[in-house]
Amino acid sequence: MNKIGTKTIETDSLILRQFTIEDAHDMFSNWASDPEVTKYLTWPAHQDEAFTKTLLSEWIENYQDGTYFNWAMELKDTSAVIGNISVVHLDEKIEGAEIGYCMSRACWGKELMPEALKAVMNFLFDEVGLNLVAAYHDSRNPKSGRVMDKAGMKYEGTLRAAAINNQGISDRVYHAMIRSDRL
Ligand SMILES: CC(C)(COP(=O)(O)OP(=O)(O)OC[C@H]1O[C@@H](n2cnc3c(N)ncnc32)[C@H](O)[C@@H]1OP(=O)(O)O)[C@@H](O)C(=O)NCCC(=O)NCCS
Repeated sequence: MNKIGTKTIETDSLILRQFTIEDAHDMFSNWASDPEVTKYLTWPAHQDEAFTKTLLSEWIENYQDGTYFNWAMELKDTSAVIGNISVVHLDEKIEGAEIGYCMSRACWGKELMPEALKAVMNFLFDEVGLNLVAAYHDSRNPKSGRVMDKAGMKYEGTLRAAAINNQGISDRVYHAMIRSDRL
């Protein structure tokens, strides 16, 4: 794999780029403090912006690592940062990545996450040279599965009671694309 790290990617509506510390306010107020956004995630909603800032400073340090992939989703129209898409697990031996994402409630339903996921998948296959890009969602959160479908991943199965998030123990619904699916 090519350890090129988080490079800027442009789509029709979005600029996917590295976070900066100035994004703390947008991140806190647009999604990280909203318990509806974190409902099926593994981390609790942030209580104050200082916490968001500390987390962001850790993420920013990680950008020096070429195996770290974590994008801020900046809306081209307004320059607001509305969400986050990242590689949450990378297995270099099989050249496979697992993706996670979340976004401001005000932006749901506009197919922005499928647009971001498609672009990130293309980047990971074409620029990084991965063979597998996958994602899991809670079975109670089917709209995340729709994002995976729209981005071209295939549903491959459900691991029952195999994860835990803010709603408790959950079924893990697995979607993926492998390089040969794209031919
Ligand atoms: C899941 C999420 C990323 C979807 O992104 P999105 O850009 O809204 O995706 P889409 O516009 O393609 O909508 C996906 C589905 O959400 C549902 N949806 C759309 N707008 C909605 C709204 N305002 N409220 C609730 N559900 C909505 C629809 O079922 C839609 O599928 P459809 O187009 O087949 O009808 C977003 O809802 C989110 O950030 N959720 C919280 C974090 C999260 O769950 N992350 C994934 C963890 S695995």
